[in-house]
Amino acid sequence: MEHQIHRIGVLTSGGDAPGMNAAVRAVVRTAVDCGIECVGIRRGWNGLINSDFVQLDASSVSHIINKGGTVLYTARSEEFMTEPGRAKALSTCKLLGLDAIVAIGGDGTFRGALALSRQAAASGYGSLQVVGIPATIDNDIGCSHYTIGFDTACNTAVECIDKLRDTMQSHERCSVVEVMGRHAGHLALYVGIAVGATAVLIPEREVDFEAEIVEKIRRARLAGTTHYMVVVAEGAGSAADIGRRIHEELGLDPRVTVLGHIQRGGSPSARDRETASRMGYEAVMALTSGKGNCVIATKDGRIVDLDMEEALQMKKPFPMERYQILEALTLSGSKRD
Ligand code: F6P
Repeated sequence: MEHQIHRIGVLTSGGDAPGMNAAVRAVVRTAVDCGIECVGIRRGWNGLINSDFVQLDASSVSHIINKGGTVLYTARSEEFMTEPGRAKALSTCKLLGLDAIVAIGGDGTFRGALALSRQAAASGYGSLQVVGIPATIDNDIGCSHYTIGFDTACNTAVECIDKLRDTMQSHERCSVVEVMGRHAGHLALYVGIAVGATAVLIPEREVDFEAEIVEKIRRARLAGTTHYMVVVAEGAGSAADIGRRIHEELGLDPRVTVLGHIQRGGSPSARDRETASRMGYEAVMALTSGKGNCVIATKDGRIVDLDMEEALQMKKPFPMERYQILEALTLSGSKRD
């Protein structure tokens, strides 16, 4: 059934990611181009609950494509996870006359969007179509090969680790660097390959500390290296603990760095700006072609729209084959068995 779209809300939710503003800009500009009004909902789903919004026109989103963070602010909303909370959100949607919402964030954001759309249908509100745009530096959303923010976060981490390598080389030290990624190792493995790490620890791979870390550092030393870089995904453990174990097992005196939230900031890379712009455009085009309740995802480099319920069930295989590449390319590479 065609859903007439006259006014849409757009919001950012969950952890912010570089490129979110480019997505907001694309949604607004495409909507205006299609003769659709746009309302910016501030602070994620809390913005609907608390009627915290701003009308957006084409000029409202000028000069933000290159800005990190989100001009709409973001938040995680416990209240929205409850039916009464969503009822408050629906009353704001009714007040504003929203036909659809574009939610930019992670899969938790999409689950909330789908619950809101279903509650709207069940409570007599009528049609409230929702579209999700995947944005998180973790790149851990099962239905999309790529999520906005991942490339910028990786570049930030690589830049920081390159700086660390300079001083580790001068002092002939071991550096243990903890990167973000929540429960996934996409960021850690991608960055580990990009910096030529001696070893990378990811939650997707059980670690035999002796065989993995200790032996790799020993082999690197035997190959003539006198400084070592170990990258740890936060979901695989704490860099401080890894540093202590390296000290105990090898007598080295590692320096530990937790990159933390620096990976969430900065001007989005070209890839994040361009991907976010295409996703924002396709999100509005999906709505105008009656494809509500979907997630805009990338698949083999293309932008596709997936049924939201199906998208939320999808799992993304971890590229474990890349772990072998990492091992083959570093001086500490494992013996071919
Ligand atoms: O999901 C993005 C992310 O940066 C994760 O990598 C990290 O574990 C988490 O958010 C940190 O959450 P917060 O910003 O609430 O501390």
